[in-house]
Amino acid sequence: MQTLWDCTKRYEGRYNGSAPEDLLREFLKEYSGKIVLATSFGAEDQVLTHMVVSIDPQTEIFTLDTGRLPEETYKVWEQTERFYGIKIKPFFPDRAEVEWLVLDQGINGFYESIENRKRCCRVRKIDPLKRALEKREVWITGLRREQSITRQDLTVVEYDETFGLIKLNPLLEWSTKQVWDYIKKHDIPYNSLHDRGYPSIGCAPCTRAVNEGEDIRGGRWWWESPEHKECGLHLTDFTQNA
Ligand code: ADX
Ligand code: SF4
Repeated sequence: MQTLWDCTKRYEGRYNGSAPEDLLREFLKEYSGKIVLATSFGAEDQVLTHMVVSIDPQTEIFTLDTGRLPEETYKVWEQTERFYGIKIKPFFPDRAEVEWLVLDQGINGFYESIENRKRCCRVRKIDPLKRALEKREVWITGLRREQSITRQDLTVVEYDETFGLIKLNPLLEWSTKQVWDYIKKHDIPYNSLHDRGYPSIGCAPCTRAVNEGEDIRGGRWWWESPEHKECGLHLTDFTQNA
């Protein structure tokens, strides 16, 4: 029996240099009903939402609502649903787990240690992501190589060992300029925090604006060193060993 891992091997190298739309068209057809787009409503995800909805508006798009997102993210969530006439499926953390987490480490305990921070990310993001990816075969993400040293070894199509499915990164080789040119060209709604110095946006207490010339992800978990700056959604050998 051919496994998803075999499929990933079969795809190896085949899509290097492919236009994201071509890649999406092929995968949305082949994995119809088993492919999902994960959106945090960041600029890259807004581009992908536009592409996916244009190709197949029935495709499931989901978001992980950690309960700590900035107000601006809720706003663009609502705008996006209205703009395309679609519903974005929310996944929330387990109530009892959050209650225990907050009781144990405090409401902002993630600032105190990497362990606390990783535990908060696990409860609020990773566990809900596992549910979101259940019975799915492919997840589409807005990862780009340019974003971080932790994302240098990614490939456009890869097998995600953590979650046991194919991961598709159609914008991997896109530059920031390409992302914004696309958004402007199609007049796509975007998170207003991007205009206030936030190139990368996650939870409100763990994201801040960056200065000109600073790293794209410099405002994420800014109190930690760069090699730790992954929450577990996207682990690589590099971050696993960090
Ligand atoms: S993170 O791991 O540091 O939070 P980042 O914000 O760079 O990731 O986003 C990379 C990709 O991960 C996004 O393009 C999106 O596919 C997925 N992602 C990140 N956060 C979420 C979220 N809250 N809900 C759904 N997908 C997300
Ligand atoms: Fe918790 Fe911050 Fe991770 Fe959000 S980014 S889940 S608030 S530690």
